[in-house]
Amino acid sequence: TVAKLWGGRFSGGPAQALEELNASISFDMRLAPYDLLASKAHARVLHRAGLLDDSELDRMLTALTELTESVAADEFPVSVSDEDVHTALERGLLERLGPLGGKLRAGRSRNDQVATDLRMYCRDHARGLASRLVDLIDALVSQAVQHVETPVPGMTHLQHAQPVTFAHQLLAHVQAFLRDLERLRDWDARAAVSPLGSGALAGSSLPLDPARVAAELGFESSSANSMDGVSDRDFVVELLFVTATIGLHLSRLGEEVVLWSSSEFNWVVLDDAYATGSSIMPQKKNPDIAELARGKSGRLVGNLTTLLVTLKSLPLAYNKDLQEDKEPVFDSLDTLELLLPAVSGMIATMSVNASVMAESAPRGFSLATEIADWLVRRGVPFRDAHEITGAVVARCAAKGVELHELADDDLASISEHLTSAVREVLTVEGALAGRTTPGSTGPKAVTTQLADIGDRVSHW
Ligand code: ARG
Repeated sequence: TVAKLWGGRFSGGPAQALEELNASISFDMRLAPYDLLASKAHARVLHRAGLLDDSELDRMLTALTELTESVAADEFPVSVSDEDVHTALERGLLERLGPLGGKLRAGRSRNDQVATDLRMYCRDHARGLASRLVDLIDALVSQAVQHVETPVPGMTHLQHAQPVTFAHQLLAHVQAFLRDLERLRDWDARAAVSPLGSGALAGSSLPLDPARVAAELGFESSSANSMDGVSDRDFVVELLFVTATIGLHLSRLGEEVVLWSSSEFNWVVLDDAYATGSSIMPQKKNPDIAELARGKSGRLVGNLTTLLVTLKSLPLAYNKDLQEDKEPVFDSLDTLELLLPAVSGMIATMSVNASVMAESAPRGFSLATEIADWLVRRGVPFRDAHEITGAVVARCAAKGVELHELADDDLASISEHLTSAVREVLTVEGALAGRTTPGSTGPKAVTTQLADIGDRVSHW
């Protein structure tokens, strides 16, 4: 049986039920590489403080390197009696170094260790997440550049509203993912604080150098308050907010792909490699990736909620409740690690039925706003222009014709302002080309938008 880190004052071993409940080893071993890096930095600080001599430091660093290698090679078995990653690695050190292994714990506690390890883990994985987001942005942009002039019915309330370009719609999703990318960068600046040196909660009486350790581990600074250092989990909450928001954005994109690939829309056809079939209906081609993008947003939001509720009312400083911080954030990062490449592949490979889109763009009287704007340019107050155009739409609906098909005398009978010249604005191309102001859907404005997106991604 493995020695606990805290056995001294106890007369016997823990009950099995306690051991099983208390152990985090089943999920926190993934912190091992970070724990070992932090241990090396701590060994150096003990050496500088005169608490390890040269040869002790040497042996300590060698053993830590060996441990790092055997963990990486999956050759370091652990069991529930190891309790957690910190206990397991101290056992590994003792096995290699004998009593010297027991020196490393001076001036630190699992409380500042775990807070440091988790920050390192999160910062590392946030970078991986950012690069997967960039891949998705690239996939959306690669489709967008081909459809700067492809009209689609822009929708509100899922009804035809005004024509837009397909590029513009895809880039609306890109804008959301770009904000997520920027959120990750902002988050990292706040997460770059090292708790190591906070000890259990009160700091240390040993001459440690937390700022130097922080710098060695890639942090910008060390905790300004040791109690905050060991009990602050804002960095996890914030990261879970960002991952939940990415989940929301993926769910909205996923929902649109489900609609676009339905036979009713028929806007896009998913590549065979990114769609699934049905076990009973041979004709089916299902957008599972898009549905999972929609479905997995539930657990991403749930993980954020889980941690918020765990932290609520928790007194300072460390409490075992804090052990519950890890599984939600591991799950959210794992989920996005799986989801993002699949969504990127689905988007990059889908084929777009540009002619179907273009054909349906003017349907549902989506050019009605053009008539109203045309009247406004002729001095008609918008309020009246809106009324007149409404009457035009009603007449078309009654006659079963499209806006441009209405006869001259029909137009004239609705309003004296309506002449046959209005038909000039009743083309999708005209409606799109006219939308040139920054942020608009016209091809010119979209080309500018594409260039700006390129700048924002490469500045990351
Ligand atoms: N496994 C623990 C966690 O994840 C490590 C810290 C334990 N600290 C303690 N005082 N028992 O939070």
